[in-house]
Amino acid sequence: MHNKQSIIAIDGHSSCGKSTVAKDLAKELGYVYIDTGAMYRSVTLFAMQNGLIQNGNTDEATLKERLGEINISFKYQPEEKKNEAFLNGVSVEDEIRSLEVSNNVSAISAIGFVRKKLVELQQEMGKEGGIVMDGRDIGTVVFPNADLKLFMTASPEIRAQRRYDELTAKGDMVEFDAILENVKQRDYLDSTREESPLIQAEDAVVLDNSQLNKEEQLEWIIKVLKDRNLL
Ligand code: DC
Repeated sequence: MHNKQSIIAIDGHSSCGKSTVAKDLAKELGYVYIDTGAMYRSVTLFAMQNGLIQNGNTDEATLKERLGEINISFKYQPEEKKNEAFLNGVSVEDEIRSLEVSNNVSAISAIGFVRKKLVELQQEMGKEGGIVMDGRDIGTVVFPNADLKLFMTASPEIRAQRRYDELTAKGDMVEFDAILENVKQRDYLDSTREESPLIQAEDAVVLDNSQLNKEEQLEWIIKVLKDRNLL
């Protein structure tokens, strides 16, 4: 049914449900889904585990030296129907979603040499097409020639509520206000950093999902793909 193995880039604010939509879309199209946020989170976890982040300060010189030791991969877990992130062969899927990692990830993702390494890896992972990749700079830097670029957003309160529900469902003891603060802080840091700030690509289609459930979002995207003859 699909005559083209497209590259679909999904960018947008943190916690606006990009990964849920990207996952559903990839499944629907029979594509591979790559969560680039998980890659920045994995580098952050590596830095934390190796004492390279102290009181919010990153030892960039040592991180740069040790960058070659960081191996990130994904494995599809059919029972859970999800892609699990691995850092040097160890599953880190839960650890990378902690609030501690969330609080440190903006600083790590603002470092030029970290971005260079991960962008190269992402380009390699997606070069054959048949991919849905989500992040902040996919349509602007990683795949500027993507067949479809989506820019997703929703209000900070709605995004904080979604992340709060996700973390508490896993049994994490978190405060809603701390999550909301983290969401707003990351919006600010992600869109004002010097290296590849979060900006909407000129040719991106905006999807504000504040009032849409996941089925409605998927339907909306499928329609856009059909309108563009990509399906
Ligand atoms: O999508 P997420 O919340 O899991 O992303 C975690 C952090 O990584 C987020 O604060 C921004 C950063 N990020 C980035 O800078 N570039 C990407 N392509 C993906 C994520």
